[in-house]
Amino acid sequence: LADDGYRLWLKYDQLPEAGLRKAWQAQAKSISLDNNASPTLQTAAHELQLGLQGLLGRPVPVSASGGKGRIRLRVAPDAALGREGYRISAQKDGLEITGPTDAAVLYGCFALLRQVQTGQLPDKLSLSSQPRIQHRLLNHWDNPNGTVERGYAGSSIWKWQELPERLDPRYQDYARANASIGINGVVLNNVNASARYLTPEYLQKVAALAGVMRPYGIRVYLSVFWAAPKVIGGLPTSDPLDPKVKQWWKARTDEIYKTIPDFGGFLVKANSEGEPGPQDYGRNHADGANMLAQALGAHDGVVMWRAFVYKANSKGDRFKEAFEEFQPLDGKFDPKVLVQVKNGPIDFQAREPFHPLFGAMPRTPLVLEVQLTQEYLGFATHLVYLGPLIKECLDADTHSQGPGSTVASVVDGSLEKHSLSGIAGVANIGSDRNWTGHPVGQANWYAFGRLAWDHTLSSAAIAEEWTCMTLTRQPQAVAAVTDVLNQSRDIYVRYTTPLGLHHIMGQSLHYGPEPWLAKSDRADWTSVYYHKADSVGLGFNRTATGSNALSLYAPAVRQRWGNPATCPPDYLLWFHHVGWGQQLSTGRSLWDELTTRYYTGADSVRWMQQRWEQIKPAVDAELHADVAARLRIQHREALWWRDACVLYFQTFSRRPIPPALTPPT
Ligand code: GCU
Repeated sequence: LADDGYRLWLKYDQLPEAGLRKAWQAQAKSISLDNNASPTLQTAAHELQLGLQGLLGRPVPVSASGGKGRIRLRVAPDAALGREGYRISAQKDGLEITGPTDAAVLYGCFALLRQVQTGQLPDKLSLSSQPRIQHRLLNHWDNPNGTVERGYAGSSIWKWQELPERLDPRYQDYARANASIGINGVVLNNVNASARYLTPEYLQKVAALAGVMRPYGIRVYLSVFWAAPKVIGGLPTSDPLDPKVKQWWKARTDEIYKTIPDFGGFLVKANSEGEPGPQDYGRNHADGANMLAQALGAHDGVVMWRAFVYKANSKGDRFKEAFEEFQPLDGKFDPKVLVQVKNGPIDFQAREPFHPLFGAMPRTPLVLEVQLTQEYLGFATHLVYLGPLIKECLDADTHSQGPGSTVASVVDGSLEKHSLSGIAGVANIGSDRNWTGHPVGQANWYAFGRLAWDHTLSSAAIAEEWTCMTLTRQPQAVAAVTDVLNQSRDIYVRYTTPLGLHHIMGQSLHYGPEPWLAKSDRADWTSVYYHKADSVGLGFNRTATGSNALSLYAPAVRQRWGNPATCPPDYLLWFHHVGWGQQLSTGRSLWDELTTRYYTGADSVRWMQQRWEQIKPAVDAELHADVAARLRIQHREALWWRDACVLYFQTFSRRPIPPALTPPT
């Protein structure tokens, strides 16, 4: 049977190596569990059993009794592990997986399976790990009618019309996949939210989904529509300071917790891209967020208030808008509020500098929001592994408290001493059999979960893990696949937006090139607003002689990026308008470097195709053919991007394409 990708990385085919199987069989004869085990612990035992039976090719019974070679699951307090950390250790009579909570033990079981699946030997097994970030969430941009905003893998996996009566078996598989990588929360619906989710009818549906997620340690959250008190509450206003509005939210929230006792909380997009919000009543984001936090009251839930805001036809630089609205509110938010900030200041471009709010709001816990659905990165057609993109942001040094003040240390709460912390990935999941459309999109879901758990992991190590679990363990093939994965994001940047170009894609669809776009309802939705090409040069001057967005960063960052000679070429055109003939640190003129990147980027897709061809014997034939076909489209579209951009910018530069790039055939 062809592998249709449904099983994701939870692939438990029998290990091919007899020696490895035998070694594990001796360690995994049975699984022992106390009689009064909770549903989550039973789930943990069941998952471990399922995995081991498949991988080892023989039954692994779950029982209350022991015996040599048993794996014991045990909840036990352990101050060193936090709430969700696990420990796997070798005991006299077998292995033990412990953790302070049921969910911790569940994570330990998946960690053990990962060891087996990736071909590690069981010798002297001693592992422990705990998550660095507390709230590790997927954000679904799914609508009640089954569409997914910026979704490229079919329709929504949530079948609202069937809920609560029918639970698609897929919900449980979704929960398994998430738990296996440590994701502990899901926002079910689009940030451009429908008020409908807050009605009693929909809360029953949400409760049914929460029931599937609960044994997997996953809580459900909802995006809320700010004007809900008006739209479904019959009130004349949604002013957060109006007593009736407050009362309405309090009553709704109590109702939610009656229906879903472990509800996680609210995600809010307000006063952004036409969504209503507290500013409609002369209030600010803190007024809105704090009102919801008070509605949550003693319930164990949080408010995640998004900082993705910009005004229609703003006269300034869109880069600065979120900062200007949110930074002055630092210290004004209720302790239950986190502010959710996209990785970069514009909008999930293929490469952005880190968002200047990181490090600039020390009194507010900030959630890092990254996008797994490839809205600006070739949808489900282009192969782009996002591990390096997410890591680039996490590792970026804000210098807010001196060197080493990384975005990761802001987000995990360690730098600014917050106990609340969170990270969110905008999901790339849909109803396609293989979940993510592009088979390699699965690696982005996987990498997000692993980095949310431990941001110190390297994106290359995660790529290798995913490849071994999902595609093949044949060493040369693993090397070839990971090579492609690790380079793929840089290659995509080169043939679409090299040197810090941004937002020059097709309007509204966000696919393909449209650098010539000069007219739109909004000035900041055109391409020319962002690239500023003219006869002199290219790029957005954000230094003190331009929009001065650089002033939002700490002095050390400002200094480095503010000087074209020290600004990394990857960020150059984000901050500088550079002359076409200006020599860059790479030794080439801007024009030559730009064209070189476009041409070598497109050529590199050929290299990806060749590497992929080499692994053909080592992976499933249909999956191989699927990715190969998508790579052919990617190559065709890389040429489209290259030619469109180079020819368009050439109308300004009036320089020839370096002959070395276009050798006569
Ligand atoms: C992007 C995206 C929108 C989305 C928005 C958001 O602008 O194109 O579809 O609603 O981000 O993050 O709120």
